[in-house]
Amino acid sequence: MSVTHSLDTSTSRANPVPSPMKRLTVPKLKAMKGGEPIVMLTAYTARMAQLLDPHCDILLVGDSLGQVIYGLPSTVPVTLEMMCAHGAAVVRGSWHAVVAVDMPFGSYEASPEAAFASASRILKETGAAAVKLEGGEAMAPTIAFLVARGIPVIGHVGLTPQAVNLLGGYGARGRSEAEAAKILADARAVSEAGAFLLVVEGVMEEIAAEVTRSVACPTIGIGASATCDGQVLVTEDMLGLFERTPRFVKRYDDIANRVQDAAKSYAADVRARRFPGEEQIYRAK
Ligand code: KIV
Repeated sequence: MSVTHSLDTSTSRANPVPSPMKRLTVPKLKAMKGGEPIVMLTAYTARMAQLLDPHCDILLVGDSLGQVIYGLPSTVPVTLEMMCAHGAAVVRGSWHAVVAVDMPFGSYEASPEAAFASASRILKETGAAAVKLEGGEAMAPTIAFLVARGIPVIGHVGLTPQAVNLLGGYGARGRSEAEAAKILADARAVSEAGAFLLVVEGVMEEIAAEVTRSVACPTIGIGASATCDGQVLVTEDMLGLFERTPRFVKRYDDIANRVQDAAKSYAADVRARRFPGEEQIYRAK
């Protein structure tokens, strides 16, 4: 059963969908290797998707929604149900960007067959065009299995947040020669397995540059320098929703303070009976 519905623009708060606009496709994104940088941001809700969509090539329904939306301590507890619900909302709120959905921890690692069951559920229930999964050489057979069965896959190497318990934190990867060589081998394996895009997270600039030179698919950096074929950030990080800003994030707004200021003004108006005012009241004509 599909849970993706079109917006009823007459009753919804949402903006009307613009007149026929063609959505970007996976092959078109793949062909952007070495060309104009690919723009990717995370989105978890229909309204945010609508606002970001005209500016992005890809909207990623990241499992970072665990922390950003649900207040979880990491991405580890995120479920397939959460990813499907938010994925469907983002597809409903977009018309131009490719929508990709993260496969949550535990939904794909056990076997290629388990990964196919999870990935096909995501595509069926959300209408998204692709899935993303974390891991390098160990995940290459799974990626090849999915791609051979019609599922476009984005890889994710370097700092892989779902492995936080193994890594012991979110520090940048590739500081030793052995670690750098492993990241490069992971990237090559994922690309050769058929991933159409590769997220490279939290690595030294030289490693990102070497990975980008060595793989056939476009690379998308997060904390991985401008040498990648594109960039991604968690939208709420770049909007300034949180106090802590990781080094690799550039803040383009200060949304947390603006929300707090608005809530403070609203509270003051309600307490002083200034809201609702004449303009917000229904009266018989
Ligand atoms: O979960 C996420 O948002 C991600 C991106 C930050 C790459 O994986």
